[in-house]
Amino acid sequence: MPDKKIFIFDTTLRDGEQVPGCKLNTKEKIELALQLEELGVDIIEAGFPISSPGDFNSVEEISKIIKNATVCGLTRAVKKDIEVAGEALKYAKRPRIHTGIGTSDSHIKNKFNSTREEILERAVQAVKWAKNYTDDVEFYAEDAGRTDNDYLAKVIEAVIAAGATTVNIPDTTGYCLPHQYGEKIAYLVNNVSNIDKAVISCHCHNDLGLATANSIAGIINGARQIECTINGLGERAGNTSLEEVAMVIKQHQKDLGFYTTIKSQQLNPISRIVSDIMRMPVQPNKAIVGSNAFSHSSGIHQDGFLKNAQTYEIINPEEVGADESKIVLTARSGRSALAHRFRKIGYEFTRNDIDVLYEQFLIVADTKKEVMEEDLHHLAKSYKPVEAIV
Ligand code: KIV
Ligand code: ZN
Repeated sequence: MPDKKIFIFDTTLRDGEQVPGCKLNTKEKIELALQLEELGVDIIEAGFPISSPGDFNSVEEISKIIKNATVCGLTRAVKKDIEVAGEALKYAKRPRIHTGIGTSDSHIKNKFNSTREEILERAVQAVKWAKNYTDDVEFYAEDAGRTDNDYLAKVIEAVIAAGATTVNIPDTTGYCLPHQYGEKIAYLVNNVSNIDKAVISCHCHNDLGLATANSIAGIINGARQIECTINGLGERAGNTSLEEVAMVIKQHQKDLGFYTTIKSQQLNPISRIVSDIMRMPVQPNKAIVGSNAFSHSSGIHQDGFLKNAQTYEIINPEEVGADESKIVLTARSGRSALAHRFRKIGYEFTRNDIDVLYEQFLIVADTKKEVMEEDLHHLAKSYKPVEAIV
């Protein structure tokens, strides 16, 4: 099923690294690039070479060391940017230049003080310059999410004619609803005459919490590449989260038919590495990689989970390299969870014992956010077994 492969374009080292406080040095970037290659991403956006000598150096060093993935450098639609990116990528086995320009009326007027015609010419020119350095040229239509579809289709057709092999349709401001973003991709599939010559890419931001949903709507409507970052890091509210799209595609393989080459068991380990290296904690309730993603704390959920894990878990934590599921004890927990946790630390109690212990447990639980192992030892040791009724 070749046309059902979704290319994963990781931009943790570029869009992710733009987060204040997340800047990486070359050594850290190389370390992460190697981890990303090991994870199975198809394209690594290694940086924005003209932005600083340090970023140029990072892109150059990553180009030397990466064997299988495509290494990509970002540019504006500016000749010097493209020359510098071409130079930084010269050692890459598979170099890609990612060039582009804002196409929404807001960008055309406010950012460039220009016209639609002039922007289209600059887009085509940028792709032609990039083609001097590599065959693999990706064009981004910045703020495509708010760009008029008819004009966007004209730009996309022209850049493909000029040699772009991937066309990136960013929802730069995270504005689109999933059906709108999906319709935009469908519009391009149906109205760009040479669209079969390029891969359509989704690059969604998370300002309304819709980045993952929008990317999935994009592939359902014909896109075949998703741009994303580990832990969803990125400008403002972040980018599409790699672990989320990889697992949506995997979990819904039967109904959607798509696949990626991501090794899902590495998702939690790489999430922790990125969080540590960028000093950016992951929110506990984050899908797939949050510390609570596989924790159960209410009595009803715990009881169901202990009878059969699938009652409350759609993913086996092992499949995404997470620690085993946790039964967290709080004042909302039930007797079966308490008995389970006692068993785990070596205490086997009868049902009657648990009934009595549960009342004592609730008194402790009401004074704390979480009842810990040492509290359980204390409860167990001070417990006097109930006299058998004859
Ligand atoms: O969000 C965006 O539009 C971008 C482009 C530079 C691809 O990051
Ligand atoms: Zn972006």
